[in-house]
Amino acid sequence: MSDALSTLPLRTWVDAWNDANHTFYTHHAPEQHFRTSIDASAAIARRIAALLAPAPEHSRPATDSSLPRCIVDIGSGSGALLTQLAALVDDEVTLMGVDVRPRPDDLPAAILWRQVRVTRDVEDITGMDGRITGLVIAHEFLDDVACPVIELDDDLRPRIVQVEAATGAEVLGPDLADPAAEALLGGISPSQARAWLDRWWPATKPLARREVGLPRDLLWRRLTRILASGHAIAIDYAHRLDDRRSGLWDGGTVKGFVDGAPCRPRPDGSVNITSHVALDSCASPHATVRSQFDVLSTSAVGSRSLASWPPDLGSFDWLIEPCTPAPATPALSETMVG
Ligand SMILES: C[S@@+](CC[C@H](N)C(=O)[O-])C[C@H]1O[C@@H](n2cnc3c(N)ncnc32)[C@H](O)[C@@H]1O
Repeated sequence: MSDALSTLPLRTWVDAWNDANHTFYTHHAPEQHFRTSIDASAAIARRIAALLAPAPEHSRPATDSSLPRCIVDIGSGSGALLTQLAALVDDEVTLMGVDVRPRPDDLPAAILWRQVRVTRDVEDITGMDGRITGLVIAHEFLDDVACPVIELDDDLRPRIVQVEAATGAEVLGPDLADPAAEALLGGISPSQARAWLDRWWPATKPLARREVGLPRDLLWRRLTRILASGHAIAIDYAHRLDDRRSGLWDGGTVKGFVDGAPCRPRPDGSVNITSHVALDSCASPHATVRSQFDVLSTSAVGSRSLASWPPDLGSFDWLIEPCTPAPATPALSETMVG
């Protein structure tokens, strides 16, 4: 990577990544480019259906009994998960896909669809936010959410990596203490980025790379506020604090994907840009993070179907977050406490 002044039209990684994925998904259906574990097996759908709380008894004076029961799938893609769920849950459960893409032509009529570009600032994602109970699912959604990309220099100072969108060529930009950093972090402040790195991905050695996961933490907080009660579940490629701290992920995890294969992460909209998710930093203190293998093999789903999965499709983690009634908007500092 160049450390010198460049004549390239540079962008911050977070801005280029954000625009690149929007362009990519505007032009490409995800199922044309990658297979997710939803496509590999119905085991995920069966486990999710089992996590949906049973309908309240008529005699029970539960405060939520009047709220519609829903499963909302954020980044629903082809709607395959919801189509599988339709066969597994009661008819009175509303199934809703939310995606930046239009409703798939072959989606069963009973499944609702909202074409929304989800960000942490969207006011009402489902049209019923805060007035439904049930489950919110984000399966391979958070890994697409753009993050600032950082590289540690020789003095272990976190420097912002900038990128030329057309080629993926990179230049090392200012460090987080530089006043210029303020405008280069996609809406989070340098002190927030610094605090996130110190807490969730501390410095190890020169040249180590990091994606600052705070934009995902904030978006996750927003998704948990869709429900008045129930659970929000994120399922994704993930890494954990102990492994990040030990340097296991020091190469960073930003990747490009196109036509079913990994490729150079060129944020020009022609490939999907993704990176592993620090699900432990997204999680509130009440949530659990478990491996997909653990979640599925200890459930009624059974582990037999897992044995036939490609190994990378079994290496996900599940973040299971209880959603409680009347959540207040958490202060940013609260989202950073694990
Ligand atoms: C990797 S695909 C996963 C699809 C599906 N959940 C699965 O696992 O098979 C990501 C999906 O998220 C959608 N998506 C990405 N960013 C989005 C955003 N900001 N708002 C809404 N949908 C988005 C894409 O259009 C795509 O359908």
